[in-house]
Amino acid sequence: MQVQGRPGRTGLVLGLACCLSQKKGGAIIGAVATSILDSGERRQTARERFERVRVVEFADSIQPSRQLAEEVAVLIRAATPERPFVIGLATGSTPVPFYRELIRLHREEGLSFRNVISFNLDEYHGLRRDHPESYHRFMHDQLFDHVDMPSDQVNIPDGTIKTEDVYEYCQEYERRIASFGGIDLQILGIGRTGHIGFNEPGSAQDSPTRMIALDRLTRRDAAADFLGESNVPRFAITIGVGTIMKARRVVLMAWGENKAEILAQAVEGQVTDAISASFLQLHENATFIVDETAASCLTRNRCPWLVGPVHWSSGMMRKAVVWLARKTGKPVLKLVDEDYNENGMADVLAEHGGAYDVNIGVFNQLQHTITGWPGGKPGADDSHRPERAQPNRKRVVVFSPEPQDAVVAMGGTLERLVEQGHDVTLVCQTSGNLRVADMEARKFAIILEDIASGSQPWPEQQSYARKIQGFLDEKGEFGVDPVPVRHLKGLILRGEARDAAEACGLLEAKIRFLDLPFYELGRYRRFNLREDDTAMTASVLADLRPHQIFATGDVAEPTSLQALCFRALREAWILKDNGEWSGHCRVWLYRGKERPLADHEIDMAVPLSPIQLERKLNAIRKFQSIRQDEWEAATLNQKNAANYDSLGMAEYEAIETFQRWRPFPSI
Ligand code: GLP
Repeated sequence: MQVQGRPGRTGLVLGLACCLSQKKGGAIIGAVATSILDSGERRQTARERFERVRVVEFADSIQPSRQLAEEVAVLIRAATPERPFVIGLATGSTPVPFYRELIRLHREEGLSFRNVISFNLDEYHGLRRDHPESYHRFMHDQLFDHVDMPSDQVNIPDGTIKTEDVYEYCQEYERRIASFGGIDLQILGIGRTGHIGFNEPGSAQDSPTRMIALDRLTRRDAAADFLGESNVPRFAITIGVGTIMKARRVVLMAWGENKAEILAQAVEGQVTDAISASFLQLHENATFIVDETAASCLTRNRCPWLVGPVHWSSGMMRKAVVWLARKTGKPVLKLVDEDYNENGMADVLAEHGGAYDVNIGVFNQLQHTITGWPGGKPGADDSHRPERAQPNRKRVVVFSPEPQDAVVAMGGTLERLVEQGHDVTLVCQTSGNLRVADMEARKFAIILEDIASGSQPWPEQQSYARKIQGFLDEKGEFGVDPVPVRHLKGLILRGEARDAAEACGLLEAKIRFLDLPFYELGRYRRFNLREDDTAMTASVLADLRPHQIFATGDVAEPTSLQALCFRALREAWILKDNGEWSGHCRVWLYRGKERPLADHEIDMAVPLSPIQLERKLNAIRKFQSIRQDEWEAATLNQKNAANYDSLGMAEYEAIETFQRWRPFPSI
C-alpha cells in the first residue's frame, strides 16, 4: 500500500491492519484489513451503499486511536526539516486517546515531533490562554507538554485577539497554513450540531478562518466543562470548512452514542451547510473512524436487512418489526404482508410464514418487557418476565456515576424496588462535586461563619468558613477548586442525594458514597481511571453480593465520567471472586444523557403512574445545588410510554427503560 502525499513522500509501506471485531449477530466490522489513512481502492460493499463517505467501524475507540497514531507516526518519521509534516489538530474528548498514544510513541519508541508543524482548528474567543477550558491549555495539557515539538511550530488561534483585529488575524492564520504548503492531515471530531472545528450550521463550503457565534447546543454541551452554560463563551475563532477541505487527508473520529444520530446524517444525508461535516462527502480523501456505538444509527447497523442478508434471530426480528411499525405508522399487530414486502423484509415472511405470525411473535416479546416488578414478582411464573422471581427479597445495588444520575434515570424503579421489599443500596460512584456551583459553597460558608461568630465563638469553624470564602475569592469564576472547596461541594451534594434517596423510600444507611479517586483528581474531559477505582468498586460488590445491579455508562463517550465509572464496574466484574452471589447476579443498564434506549433494545420497561412520576420529579428536585432539569427526565419517560403505546402496547403515563447487560455468557 502506498501513502498518497506530496511528491517525494510516497513509498511508505503501512502494514497496519485493523482488527477484525466480531459483532453481535455475527456481522463483521471492517471485513478487510484496513489502513485508516490509505483508503486504497474505493470498493463499496453492499453494506456501505448508503454511505457517501468512507467509514471504518471499530468495536471501541482505543484500537482505532492506536492504529491512527501508528499510521501518523510513519508520516512523522518520514518528515524532514525541509519537508515538515503539517497536521491539523482538534480538541474535545474525542482525540484524547489518540494524543495519549502519540505521547506513548514519543516516550517509549522515540518518536520525535521536531519536524512537525501543527495548526489547531479553533479557540474560544475571550478566554485567556491559561484559562482551564481554553483550547490552548487543553492542547498543552493533552499533547504539547509531553512531546518534543518546538513551541514556535505550534499554532493555535489566539482567543484574546480584539474583536476589531480578528478579521486580519484570521487571514494571517490562513496565510501561515499556506506558507507550509497546506495541511497534510486534518484530524477532526464532530459536535452534536454536526460542526467540524466550530463551523456551526450555516457555514459555507468555502468558508475561511473566521469568528463565529456558537450554537446553543454546542454551548449546552460545553456547560459542564465551564461549570454552567452561562459561563460558556458566545464566540469562537475557527478555521473554515474551506480551509479543512483543502487538507490533503482528513480523518474524522466519533465515539459514543451521543454522536450516532448526527454522524448518520453527515454520512448518509445530503451535503448541506446545516451539517458542516457533510461537506466531507465531497473531499477526495476523507475517512470517518467510528466506534460501534457512534455507528449505531448508520443504515448498516440500524436496518442491516436493507443492506444485505441477515440472520433473523428473535432480536433482529424485534428490531426490524419495530422499525417497520414506525415507518408505516402502524401498531405491530396491524402490519400486513405488503408492509413487509414493500420494505425489504420479504425474507422474514418466507422464513416465518406470514405477517400474522411475525407480528404476534414480536408483540409478545415487547409485551414481556413490561413489568411493575423490576426486582421480579415473588411466587409468579417468571418464564416470560424480565427478572427472576427468586429470591423473593433481592440484594440490589444501584450504581449512580454522579449522585443524581440514578434518581433522574430510574427514580421510579428505585422506589418500586424499595417498596417491594428488596434490600436496595444506592452506590454513588463519584462525589459529583464539580457540578456544584460556587454560590452553594459560599452560602454554606457564610452561614457557618455566622454561627461560629455568635456569642460563644467557635474559632476553628470560623477559620474554616473564612478559608473557604478566601479560596472562592482567589480562584475567581473560572479557577480550579482547591481540595477543601471540592470536598465541601461534595458534602453539599451528599446531603441532597440523601434527601432524594429518601424521597424514593431509601434509608440513609442504604447509600454509599465511593468518591472514586479518578474523579477527585480530575476535571471533565481529563479523567484517568486508576487501579484503585476498580479496586473500590470490586470491594463494594464483594461486600454487598448483589442479586441485581443497575448501572449506566456502557455507551457513553469513552472519556466521560459515566463511561469511566462503567469501565471500573466492568473491570471489577472481571476481577470478582467466584462468591455465590456472582453466578446469580443480573446487570441492568439504564441510560443517562446518552440517546435513550430504542424500543427494540429495551429488555425491561417499568411503567409509572402519574402519581409515581410526580414523586420521582419531587425526588429529582432535591438536587437543588446542581439545578437538575426534572422536566427533561419526565419528558423522556413520557416519550417511552408514547412509543410503547403507538406500537400497540398498553397506554401508560411514563416508562423507565432498561437493557440487560450480557458481556459474558455466564451472566
Ligand atoms: C468542540 C470542538 C470540536 C470538537 C467538538 C466535539 O466543539 N470545537 O472540534 O469536535 O467539540 O467535542 P468532543 O470530542 O468532546 O465530543
